[in-house]
Amino acid sequence: MIKEKRFRPHVFLVILLVFFIGCKNTSSDNKEELIIQQDSVIKYADRFSYLLEYPLDSLAFPRSAGENGSIKKVPSKDWTSGFFAGSLWLIYEITGDDKYSDKAKKWTAFIEKEKNNDRTHDMGFKVFCSFGNGYKITNDESYKSIILESAQTLSTRYNSTIGSIRSWDFNKEEWQFPVIIDNMMNLELLFEASNYSEDSKYYEIAEQHAKTTLKNHFRNNNSSYHVVDYDTITGNIRSKVTHQGFGNESSWARGQAWGLYGFIMAYRYTKNVEFLEQSKKIAGFLMNHINLPEDAIPYWDFDAPNIPSEPRDASAATVIASGLIELYEHTGDKKYLDFSDRIMSNLSSIKYIIQNESNIPFILNHSTGNWPKNDEINGPISYADYYFLEAILRRTSIK
Ligand code: GLY
Repeated sequence: MIKEKRFRPHVFLVILLVFFIGCKNTSSDNKEELIIQQDSVIKYADRFSYLLEYPLDSLAFPRSAGENGSIKKVPSKDWTSGFFAGSLWLIYEITGDDKYSDKAKKWTAFIEKEKNNDRTHDMGFKVFCSFGNGYKITNDESYKSIILESAQTLSTRYNSTIGSIRSWDFNKEEWQFPVIIDNMMNLELLFEASNYSEDSKYYEIAEQHAKTTLKNHFRNNNSSYHVVDYDTITGNIRSKVTHQGFGNESSWARGQAWGLYGFIMAYRYTKNVEFLEQSKKIAGFLMNHINLPEDAIPYWDFDAPNIPSEPRDASAATVIASGLIELYEHTGDKKYLDFSDRIMSNLSSIKYIIQNESNIPFILNHSTGNWPKNDEINGPISYADYYFLEAILRRTSIK
C-alpha cells in the first residue's frame, strides 16, 4: 500500500536551509548573484517533472546525457539501471506525490529479471536502489522476494578463500578475481536480505567482504586502490591497480566516495568500530585534500594531472554528501554535517543544476563516468541525481 499523498514541510525547510547555508558560504555580497542562486534552488524541484515524463521503455533506462542533449539509454543489465527508478521513489518521498511512486513502480518492474543475473556484482545498485526503496515505501511482499532472490544470486560470487565477492568477469587475461572498492555499495542488499529472512549467511558474507576490503584496499594515507586482484587458489593479492582512475597510485574521486559511504553503511549493520573508523579516515582524506576545489565538488581524480583544468565529478560529491550525513548520525560530529551542507548548497546552484530549457531527465550536470575511456565526461549522469536526492531526504531526518 502506497502511503497517502502528503505535503512534507520539513523537506522544503531543508531546501531553504541549504539555500541559506549557500548564501552564508558565498564570498560574494552581490545581491543579484544571490537572487539568481535562490531562483536556481527553487528550480531544482522543477526538474522532477522531466524524470516523471520520460517515456517508459523496459529496454532503455536513461543513464546519462551528452553535450547535445542526446540520452544514453541502457538495458536492465547495466549497473546503472536501478538509479532512475530509485530517483523516482526518492522524489515520491520528497514530494508525497503519487504520480512519482506510480511511475517508480513501472520502471522498477523492468529490473526484475536481474535477480537471476550472476555475471556481475552490481546487484545492489540495480536491485536495491529500485526494489529496495520500493519495498521500504510499499511493503510489497513481492519486492521482498525479489530482493532475497537477488541476494542469493549475488552470494554465488563470494569466494571464502579470498573472503570477498568477485566484482567483474571481464579482462580474464589480466585478472583472476578482481574486487573493486565500489563493491562495498552492494553489501546493503545482503545485510537487508539477512534482516528480511533471518538467514545470517548474507550478513556474514557482507561483513567478511568489508573486512577484506578494509585490509587490502587502503593506502597509508587512507585513500583506496580501485581494483585489487586476488589469486583464486591461494587467496593472495596479485595486483592493485586502477580501471577508471588516472593511474594505479592515484585517488579516483568516486572510488573514495564509495569507500566512505560503504564503510559507514557497513557500520550501521555490524557496529564494527573498525568500519566506522575507516569511514572517518576516508572523510578526513577527502575533506582536507589539497586538490579539493573551494566548492568541495571534486575533480574526477584527486591526482588528475591538469588540475584545475580537469572535469569535476558531481556524482562523487553527492555520494560523499549522503555518506557524510550518515557519518554525522553515528558520530555526532558536526564537521561532517557542515561539510555535507557545503557540498549540497554548492550543487544547488546554477553551475550544477541543469537549467529548465533542457528537458533531459536529469537534475545535475558535471559528473564524470569513465575518464580513461573518454566516456561520460562532465555531464549529467543518473547516479549523481540518485545520491543527491538521497542526501536531501537524509538531511530532513536531522534535527
Ligand atoms: N561502479 C562503477 C562506477 O562507479 O563507475
